[in-house]
Amino acid sequence: MGPTDKEIKDAVKEKYGGLARGQSSSCCGPSKSCGCSTGSNMVDAAKLYAGEDLSGIPSEAAGFSLGCGNPLALAGIKEGETVLDLGSGGGLDCFLAAKKVGPAGKVIGLDMTPEMVKLARENAQKMKAANVEFRLGEMEHMPVDDASVDLIISNCVINLSPDKDTVFKETFRVLRPGGRLSISDMVWLAPLPEAVKSSLDEWAGCVAGALQETEYLDKIKAAGFADVSSQRSTFDVGEAAEGVEIGGMKASELAKKIASVRVQAVKPRRRTHRPDSGF
Ligand SMILES: C[S@@+](CC[C@H](N)C(=O)[O-])C[C@H]1O[C@@H](n2cnc3c(N)ncnc32)[C@H](O)[C@@H]1O
Repeated sequence: MGPTDKEIKDAVKEKYGGLARGQSSSCCGPSKSCGCSTGSNMVDAAKLYAGEDLSGIPSEAAGFSLGCGNPLALAGIKEGETVLDLGSGGGLDCFLAAKKVGPAGKVIGLDMTPEMVKLARENAQKMKAANVEFRLGEMEHMPVDDASVDLIISNCVINLSPDKDTVFKETFRVLRPGGRLSISDMVWLAPLPEAVKSSLDEWAGCVAGALQETEYLDKIKAAGFADVSSQRSTFDVGEAAEGVEIGGMKASELAKKIASVRVQAVKPRRRTHRPDSGF
């Protein structure tokens, strides 16, 4: 039997709480190896966010990306918009979005790990970012009003939820009609070994909870979204995976089964009745 939802959430909070306190250094990717930005230097974040203006963002925030892509790249953020970031971590995506929405706009970062929210609030103070707020809460029941958000972004977070259907229903609820979803996340390209799927370490490492790409997109459509599209890039675990075994498999082999996707979708302007979306 696999881990319970509570065990998964506790493992995720423990891992990301430790990262926020600087007591742990691994991030998303097969455990003991790390294919995304390590959070330990600016170079990795600069690579992940090539084309974004990182100026004015304190190095503590810019060097603390635990994401697996850049959800802002295709989001088309406009001045004055309200943006919600699911699983905001140290706040980097929120700060980049805040620069784009300007003083007339607003960015809300949501994270369930208290240490992450504390870190992000400290970073916001250093940046004097007045149009960003960080809320403690779970994306399965967001502390956000109905139809109040123009754009939802998220970077390597939804795979961590044991209840993704509810996350996408909540996402649909809080977006305004015509609102957009722009997320980066991990998906798998081939079935994962059972030992990996039931490992709490791999859940917290963004691997065990990842879905196959088609299943991921189908869940978004089932929540009521239209114009669902995705772009895939392979996941490079690099030299850190050398000699590492996970669930009886080489980490470098496991990494070939995983990819990072950038997904776009729109909440239709006209309501269509969907029994499973609550609308
Ligand atoms: C891999 S990190 C990504 C952080 C950030 N998006 C980034 O790119 O640096 C995942 C984050 O999602 C948060 N998280 C995981 N599950 C969550 C949930 N169910 N609700 C809210 N936040 C969650 C974790 O606390 C952690 O800060």
